[in-house]
Amino acid sequence: MRIAIIGSGGREHAICQKIYISSKVEKIFCIPGNGGTKKIAENINIDLKNFEKIKSFLIKEKIDFTIIGPEEPLVKGIVDFLRNNNLRVFGPDKYCSQLEGSKIFTKKICEIEKIPTANFRIFKDFKSSINFLKDQVYPLVVKADGLAAGKGVYICENFQNAKIATEEIFGGKFGKADEILIEDFLSGEEMSFFILYDNKTFKIFNTAQDHKRVFEGDKGKNTGGMGAYSPSRLIDKDLEKKIINTIILPTLNHLKKNGGTYVGFLYAGLMIKNNDPYLIEYNVRMGDPECQTILPLLENDFAGLINKCIEGDLINEEIKWKNKKSICVVLTSKGYPDDYKKNVLIKNLENYENSENQYIFHAGTKFYKEKYFSTGGRVLNFVSLDNDFKSARSNSIKLIENLNWENGFYRKDIGFRVIDK
Ligand code: AMP
Ligand code: GLY
Repeated sequence: MRIAIIGSGGREHAICQKIYISSKVEKIFCIPGNGGTKKIAENINIDLKNFEKIKSFLIKEKIDFTIIGPEEPLVKGIVDFLRNNNLRVFGPDKYCSQLEGSKIFTKKICEIEKIPTANFRIFKDFKSSINFLKDQVYPLVVKADGLAAGKGVYICENFQNAKIATEEIFGGKFGKADEILIEDFLSGEEMSFFILYDNKTFKIFNTAQDHKRVFEGDKGKNTGGMGAYSPSRLIDKDLEKKIINTIILPTLNHLKKNGGTYVGFLYAGLMIKNNDPYLIEYNVRMGDPECQTILPLLENDFAGLINKCIEGDLINEEIKWKNKKSICVVLTSKGYPDDYKKNVLIKNLENYENSENQYIFHAGTKFYKEKYFSTGGRVLNFVSLDNDFKSARSNSIKLIENLNWENGFYRKDIGFRVIDK
């Protein structure tokens, strides 16, 4: 098979690596890819907004199917566009991608289908939002409706914080805002729950917990993700059943009733309280860094599995997982998520090879003149599999210390809830 992967993060390198080891795969292209994918695939530099150019490339290279990694092209409708041009593609259509592209779209589904989630109100202007916010009990959560690269959510401790959030959102910080979402604060522990869906049958695709805050103890600013571990310590058969029956099935049925076509991963961000699940948000793709920590645990031939999913033939597939614990520690550029240096040499990185229980997935890197350089905030993902989380984490940290990149920063406490309990 000839396969194309859209995206350039750690998630896409992990997908690429898993596909690379499949005997069914002849050639992989990453559009645009990163320094890590360059070693095992061919990177093709096409602007992800240019659907026409992507289409022409896929046709010219006789690609069997394309996997869409990130949310932005999904929300903009790349799947509908490619499918209308008779190309086989793994990802939900534009209608279904609103699950991630519009928080209000998702909340309305929750209301119609009685899916457990935080109580919410929608406001259309600053004045009515403020009138409501004045007399509330805090904390409250104020959210921009559309994609905001993880930044459009404000957990507000008091009216003053909520007022600033509302000003920023209606002020256009995340693009033109016609509406704002204000919801109750949910307490509990978060869990990421994944399924693979072929628009007819879904299969559970493991669980994870990520650490979004920049500093140890889950403190400081929100980031794209500083690390993750899988499986989540919270999942058991009883909770799984509740998640499927009260959240996943009503959502999939709703999308289908309304004419959507969902082929791909669905990621439910959940809050678990007293062993009951509440939906915080949906993402219409794999998580990053959850993908990096989950995929190395998968036993199945990944390229074959995705192909079956696109065929609408998941029904007979059994998803098998290694009986191991997996931890991903993210190495960022110092200063991230604020200002950081770019184009810093990462010495000796070319000497590391991935093995069955240890991986370095690249995110913000490029390979130039036989050397790797950093190009972004999240630079590398160190993933280790072991019999317990503590050993897995210490293996990842040893690798980071060995690499000894002077511009790097990482959290030593990834998985602390499951390790240091
Ligand atoms: P979202 O982009 O909606 O996932 O929100 C980002 C993060 O904000 C989530 O992972 C949670 O940690 C937090 N969050 C969002 N909504 C709520 C809520 N209603 N209650 C508590 N925390 C929330
Ligand atoms: N890890 C959070 C996300 O991928 O959105």
